[in-house]
Amino acid sequence: MAKRASGRRPPEPPGPPAPAIGPPVPALLPDRLSLPAMREAAAGCRACDLYARGTQTVFGEGPRRAEVMMVGEQPGDVEDIAGHVFVGPAGRLLDRAMEDAGIPRTQVYLTNVVKHFKWEPRGKRRIHKKPGSTEIAACRPWLDSEIAVVKPRVLVCLGAVAAQALLGRAFKVSESRGRFVDSPLADRVLATVHPSSVLRAGDEDQRRDAMARFVADLRVVAAEIARAPRARAGSR
Ligand code: URA
Repeated sequence: MAKRASGRRPPEPPGPPAPAIGPPVPALLPDRLSLPAMREAAAGCRACDLYARGTQTVFGEGPRRAEVMMVGEQPGDVEDIAGHVFVGPAGRLLDRAMEDAGIPRTQVYLTNVVKHFKWEPRGKRRIHKKPGSTEIAACRPWLDSEIAVVKPRVLVCLGAVAAQALLGRAFKVSESRGRFVDSPLADRVLATVHPSSVLRAGDEDQRRDAMARFVADLRVVAAEIARAPRARAGSR
């Protein structure tokens, strides 16, 4: 007599082996921290398995003495290929918003919490996947080192991933966006939405509203720069 099926699924065939992880970031940091030396060291980073999925490390960019540092989530598809931060659709929207708010991009150091693109395939497309806490923790020393070198007077978290990584898991961007919060990371720390959320807002009216709110948050930053530029504030 034929055996009844037990209803259990057969075991999944084994997937590809997990990529080998290399030394943690602190072992890669140059003895003397500088942005060029850190960028070079980060290019070979294998501290989490995202290196095997991304095309390259996308390190932060901007002036070493930037008054403002903006921290996003992770490079997107375009950034992963170009090797530069915020050069895709979200980056273009951020440029427009900064311009409307009166923040010159040349005064801003732009970076991300995670420096490799995390994605999964969907057909021929590479779809963004949110980084997990292990990847965020593994990558964190790069960001801490960027903050230590640039010493931004104003630090802006773009979106919940950056805000929660830097301000705590309980931080809610929807409740606290657009105002300065206490943090030891910089004189002034503020969170706002990620520019990609503006791109994703439902219809055209909603996108216009979302953009106006985003620009209003960035105007708080612009006003702070105008109020006490670093040279006069003497914060270095
Ligand atoms: N989104 C980010 O968070 N960072 C980038 O560099 C690009 C898109």
